[in-house]
Amino acid sequence: MSAFRLDGKRALVTGANTGIGQAIAVGLAEAGAHVLAAGRSSCAETVARIQGAGGSGEAVTLDLADPGAAAARLAEFGVLDILVNNAGIIRRADSVDYTEADWDAVMDVNLKAVFLMCQAFARAALARGQGGRIVNIASLLSFQGGIRVPAYTASKHGVAGLTKLLANEWAAKGINVNAVAPGYIATNNTEALRADPLRSAEILGRIPAGRWGDPADIAGAVTFLCAPAANYVTGAVLNVDGGWLAR
Ligand SMILES: NC(=O)c1ccc[n+]([C@@H]2O[C@H](COP(=O)([O-])OP(=O)(O)OC[C@H]3O[C@@H](n4cnc5c(N)ncnc54)[C@H](OP(=O)(O)O)[C@@H]3O)[C@@H](O)[C@H]2O)c1
Repeated sequence: MSAFRLDGKRALVTGANTGIGQAIAVGLAEAGAHVLAAGRSSCAETVARIQGAGGSGEAVTLDLADPGAAAARLAEFGVLDILVNNAGIIRRADSVDYTEADWDAVMDVNLKAVFLMCQAFARAALARGQGGRIVNIASLLSFQGGIRVPAYTASKHGVAGLTKLLANEWAAKGINVNAVAPGYIATNNTEALRADPLRSAEILGRIPAGRWGDPADIAGAVTFLCAPAANYVTGAVLNVDGGWLAR
């Protein structure tokens, strides 16, 4: 079998109803995995796209706002070989005005849920005596400070650190843990930025590739990290940013 195929694997992708998560779900299915498209909103459209591409998938409901409750449900979904923690939220305000409620909401979905989902996935994989693959979705704000998004930046720096720590703990047990750090990708998440002509021009002017990223650009990198081709890759945070961080 090709080192880039995922036939026979079962993958769960969080936040798979739209944007980057939807593209990842379709990409993994195109590579041969059976994909559980997990969302708090319906993932029916994603499953239709998977089936339209000749792949295999199903929709499952999973709200990460209560991370402990969400992680406790992972066992319901059967054997999983691949976990992609994609779901994330962003709340913008000047740091002097940032509310504790916004801080908690962002940290819960973007970081606490990522840890508890990784933990639940690894407990099951280790109990089966099998390895697995985890890919966490980080951000340019895993490396840079950003502005007016204090909880998002803290959470995404946390995702990068957590990815490395879990990779260290589980490498010898066959669980590879990596992250993908998307650059500026055209999704709901960046709608406000793209709608602001000034910010949009500033951002585009700095991207060496000269364009916003497409969700499918992220799916390719995630699929690679889940495939046999990446057997010896763990603890990496792979930038998929059209060259932004190289600038
Ligand atoms: N777009 C970019 O430029 C960019 C750059 C760097 C990193 N990222 C990261 O990429 C990931 C995907 O973002 P995106 O751009 O595709 O944004 P998006 O279109 O806003 O999608 C975010 C996803 O997370 C889900 N989600 C939010 N809260 C949830 C909860 N409580 N439980 C379950 N799912 C929840 C959303 O579900 P609903 O639709 O139901 O809200 C949606 O499926 C995020 O982690 C984001 O931080 C994006």
